[in-house]
Amino acid sequence: MDHSKPETFKPETSKPETFKPFFNMNIRLFKPSVGEEELQLIRESFERSWIGLGPNVSQFEAEWEKFSGAAMAVGVNSATAALHLALAAFRFPEGKKVLVPSLTFAATATAVLYNRLVPVFVDSDPVTLGMDLNDLARKYDKDCVAVMPVHYAGHPVPMEKLMPWARERGLKVVEDCAHTAGAMYKGQMLGLWGDIGCYSFEEKKLMTTGDGGMMVTNDPELFRDVKAMRWVGIDKDNWKTAQAYTTANRDAMHWFYEIAVLGYKYNMNDLAAAIGLAQLKKLPAMSRRRSEIIRQYMDGLEGVPGVAPMLPFEPENYCYQMFGIRADQRDEMMIHLKGLGIATGCHYTPLSIQPLFAPWGHTCPFVEKEHERLITLPLHADLTDEEVDYVLDGIKVFHEAVVA
Ligand SMILES: Cc1ncc(COP(=O)(O)O)c(C=O)c1O
Repeated sequence: MDHSKPETFKPETSKPETFKPFFNMNIRLFKPSVGEEELQLIRESFERSWIGLGPNVSQFEAEWEKFSGAAMAVGVNSATAALHLALAAFRFPEGKKVLVPSLTFAATATAVLYNRLVPVFVDSDPVTLGMDLNDLARKYDKDCVAVMPVHYAGHPVPMEKLMPWARERGLKVVEDCAHTAGAMYKGQMLGLWGDIGCYSFEEKKLMTTGDGGMMVTNDPELFRDVKAMRWVGIDKDNWKTAQAYTTANRDAMHWFYEIAVLGYKYNMNDLAAAIGLAQLKKLPAMSRRRSEIIRQYMDGLEGVPGVAPMLPFEPENYCYQMFGIRADQRDEMMIHLKGLGIATGCHYTPLSIQPLFAPWGHTCPFVEKEHERLITLPLHADLTDEEVDYVLDGIKVFHEAVVA
């Protein structure tokens, strides 16, 4: 994480004048922090009358390359699209296997199905809830062609162990970075340990473009066709064609394009990129605020019976999209918090017990049981200290209010 800029994040939303404990609170689980800076760049896009794939997307890609240190970044309209294209870039033969964690959002594994490949679900590490590397080794066989580690909640998968293991077996590595953005792990940015990293800018993420995603690689040859694949197979930016058309010495073939690869309508557009450019500037401050909130949660939860942070969060070292707890009485706790106006969630129902994945399911006994204890708590950069205390108080009185 970038701790170099000391300014603190100043949310633009109005705050309650006075803290009113235990009533009148309505605390969202996730919330994008957007305001004037984003609107200004959207306005400029309107004034240019260019809101599709255009200069903002190119600028955002260039800035993401600078921010992440990646040799190449390509903007798309979601991380779901990024994950689909990341696997497609390798052109694996149909029917090969891809190792994915069971505890993740559907998109990690639907990307496998989109590519006519077979998901192999890997159980969670009991401590971190990330991919269990022992189970990974057990699930591997010679038909596996790739592995997709998810930095669950933002907590790094031990990439220094996973990478040599994957390389020895010739596996490609696609990092699902939907829950992280800009975190360094052992001297390397998460997203650049593997062959391709995929970030999400959906509205609940560390930064947003409404919906959007970014693919990164340090091997530009891998992305040779990716720009065409994200734009219906055309490897030529529309806005550049339009620019050529308006120059005096225009080429009579300015309209020409060739379709050589199967593409999708997955491009990011200039309105999303306008939001992204403004959000990227705020990202370090928003991540720092999230870290402060997680520290407040962790300190406040110490010694509370029946409850523990869901994983060993290190908010001083990494940035987290989610915070959560493991609770002995999850459902009762959720109902209790809901009664106090506190939104909660469960991330996730493991994919290995979802009906869609039944043919490959019921293979991850630990997480298929453990997810019943998971509660996601409110985490976003606009949360106030008072609101976090309110959530903590709600958890602390649970035993008196409900159990006792
Ligand atoms: C782990 C993970 N992967 C992928 C995605 C897909 O992201 P997007 O909504 O940008 O398609 C998400 C979104 O929640 C996610 O949590």
